Amino acid sequence: MNSWKPMRIISAIFVLAIFGLLTVLAFAQDEPAVGPKPPVVVKPMESHIGNITGHAAAAKSDYRRYCAGCHGDYGDASGENAVWIDPKPRDFTIATFKCRSTPTGTLPTDQDLFDTIKRGIVNSNMPIWNVFTNQQRADLVAYIKIFSPRWETEKAGTPITIPAEPPVTLESISHGQALFAKLECWKCHGTHGEGNGPSASTLTDSLDNPIRPYNFAAGGNDSRFKCGSTNQDIYKIFMTGVDGTPMPSFADVIQPNDAWDLVHFLRTLQIHRHSKENDVLLAAHGVIPPYQDKSAPAAAPADNKAPGGGQ
Ligand code: HEC
Ligand code: HEC
Repeated sequence: MNSWKPMRIISAIFVLAIFGLLTVLAFAQDEPAVGPKPPVVVKPMESHIGNITGHAAAAKSDYRRYCAGCHGDYGDASGENAVWIDPKPRDFTIATFKCRSTPTGTLPTDQDLFDTIKRGIVNSNMPIWNVFTNQQRADLVAYIKIFSPRWETEKAGTPITIPAEPPVTLESISHGQALFAKLECWKCHGTHGEGNGPSASTLTDSLDNPIRPYNFAAGGNDSRFKCGSTNQDIYKIFMTGVDGTPMPSFADVIQPNDAWDLVHFLRTLQIHRHSKENDVLLAAHGVIPPYQDKSAPAAAPADNKAPGGGQ
């Protein structure tokens, strides 16, 4: 029999062909994956708001209809309207949120997100969504979580505790004013809170988009903040920080009760908004007396070191 020889040649060619194919495939893996984007994977995320449980799967059509136009099908802020919008829609793949009751750097609670969706974000294109039922909103909160793995590996932060608000007094306002100066809020917000401090024009958010500090003097009785409108909401803003923006958290430097004094002073910067703080100020003819720190012990002589004077 001499047919074995061509058979061997054929199988050798076959083996070579397989090797060749494997090599081509190996190289092909270095090529970028091209083609249409894969469908969004709706992970089975949940949210819990009071006794309502939200399910991501239930929000799929609401999200596509009402949210994707700005936030994008993939939650990456690439909706078709995003290019026209300033500030940009939130990129849910990073899971950095402005409106939190939780410390800076942590995830917000489900309730925080739920409230934001209901409230909308003033001074931005994020609309007020009061057309939804609570269940729909809870489902949307769960849906937002499918976009970032942080929601699978981290828990929401523990909400900060806010002590009861002390009465508004001239002294409280005056102490708040001293804190506003000392903590250099004015560097961004301006000495009169008009959003025009010396650093204001240079600020950018964490995605390198320009961002302006809040102008307290603009707006009237209806003026609100991005994350609410009550005195408690203002307290939360500077004690938790506006994450993803240059607006820091001052939780480490302000004592809880001092924070209320700052809240009372900030209200007086809202010159066109009626408030109990402005009433107190009006009764004092609009003059905030300089703050006198009664609790500070008188400096001991040993503390009075002359500049450059050795020990
Ligand atoms: C017209 C555009 C637009 C639409 C539609 C829209 N958003 Fe937004 N959204 C924004 C913008 C802009 C921001 C960021 C505002 C800012 O940073 O001040 C935002 C921010 C958010 C945030 C982040 C809040 C935080 O604490 O940082 C959430 C959550 C959110 N949107 C949810 C939704 C949901 C849910 C829908 C659909 C029901 C929706 N948005 C529809 C524009 C939009
Ligand atoms: C480095 C600059 C910077 C400093 C310092 C700063 N802020 Fe801000 N602040 C900002 C920016 C920027 C925003 C706007 C964030 C946004 O629009 O998302 C802001 C927003 C705010 C808001 C409104 C947020 C809202 O929901 O609309 C309050 C209240 C506020 N700051 C208070 C303070 C106080 C009080 C201090 C000092 C203890 C302070 N800020 C110091 C940059 C700063």
